[in-house]
Amino acid sequence: MFDFVFHNPTKIVFGRGQEQSIGLELKQAGVKKVLFVHGRNSIKRSGLFDRVAASLKESGVRYVEFGGVDSNPVLSHTRQGVKRAKQEGVDGVLAVGGGSVLDEGKAIAVGAKAADDVWHYFTGRKVTEALPVFTVLTLAATGSEMNGNAVVTNEETKQKYNISSPLVYPRVSILNPELTCSVPPAYSAYGAVDAIAHVIEGYFTRKAGTHLQDRLVESIIKTVMETTEVIMREPGNYEARAEFMWGATLALNGLTTAGLKEYSFPNHMIEHSLSAIYNIAHGAGLAIVMPAWMKWYCRKNPSRFERFAREVFGLEGSMAGIEALEKWFVSIQAPVRLRDGGIPAGDIEMIAENGAALATLWGISDMYRKEEIADILRLAV
Ligand code: NZQ
Ligand code: ZN
Repeated sequence: MFDFVFHNPTKIVFGRGQEQSIGLELKQAGVKKVLFVHGRNSIKRSGLFDRVAASLKESGVRYVEFGGVDSNPVLSHTRQGVKRAKQEGVDGVLAVGGGSVLDEGKAIAVGAKAADDVWHYFTGRKVTEALPVFTVLTLAATGSEMNGNAVVTNEETKQKYNISSPLVYPRVSILNPELTCSVPPAYSAYGAVDAIAHVIEGYFTRKAGTHLQDRLVESIIKTVMETTEVIMREPGNYEARAEFMWGATLALNGLTTAGLKEYSFPNHMIEHSLSAIYNIAHGAGLAIVMPAWMKWYCRKNPSRFERFAREVFGLEGSMAGIEALEKWFVSIQAPVRLRDGGIPAGDIEMIAENGAALATLWGISDMYRKEEIADILRLAV
């Protein structure tokens, strides 16, 4: 076990109907007026918008509505949000939706306190101030509800980059599994792929770690797979939605990587290029990248893959787990080849170039040059 600091400041309020307490949470935190950030229409359709608005009213917290966040949020809309937050003089951000809404909300929280353009904080400038962020999560997948990341696409330059700062951890996140029962099957599948991706990055790339961390990861993967199979059959199954939701949160809140050494997120790096260029859903892009990356990386660390096959699938051999995972992705109707996602194989060089730029920003460009990224993508043809 290597030395580490684990400090996750997010308060989680978990359970049925908990969104009703959001007004009180904001009031107790001293917030008087929030930018109420949401997506296209899911929270209006479900009635959640009205319930949250009623809770705010009851607690005397004012709000300014800012809807229309895209899945794969974009910089132009984020900038509009920053402008709105500044004009209205809000003292907090309330993001109600999936990972995209939470991420854009976090970015707005940074931009609202900054004198310069918010994009600088995605390309290396350190965040020194941000409005407090509060969330009500409606789609379990990204872990954004309990981490300090915010991913946004600059649609002009086709760069999908992230802010990473302790200042954008949500102060409070409400997790009501009931709210996720209306997530369509495709996004439920993508959420499962994403949660699995979050834990396997550290599991396979770490230079050293412990059995505890390995077992946490294997347990999260097995739980995500089992509950997803129930959710696919019974979308309204509360217990499965609840267990899945907490599993997805734990998958990227710092728990599974604490005490690891020298790990990286190459699958995410490559996927962000697919989302940036083709606007493919993040989990769908990961389902294409992950089996390809695993086949490429397996040679570098076969014993990890043998363990993965044995512990997760009860199979022997380094390739067996990769094949089983890919088969499972197919079973939940996630795409596993570039063509399944409508991505032409002829674009591989261009995608690899986009990915290599992010590799430089993430400090992993020695292992992931354009050539290696192209080799990985060729395994997804
Ligand atoms: O826009 P609305 O109408 O709300 O519809 C959304 C959207 O179309 C819909 N939806 C959400 N909750 C729903 C629902 N539909 C019915 N019922 C509900 N309860 O689902 C669609 C997808 O939502 P989105 O927020 O885009 O999905 P997800 O949560 O998977 O977020 C994906 C984004 O998060 C980023 C991804 O790159 C992507 O941009 N990530 C964020 C991370 C983080 N902050 O730590 C880490 C991840 O690796 C990832 O990169
Ligand atoms: Zn992810």
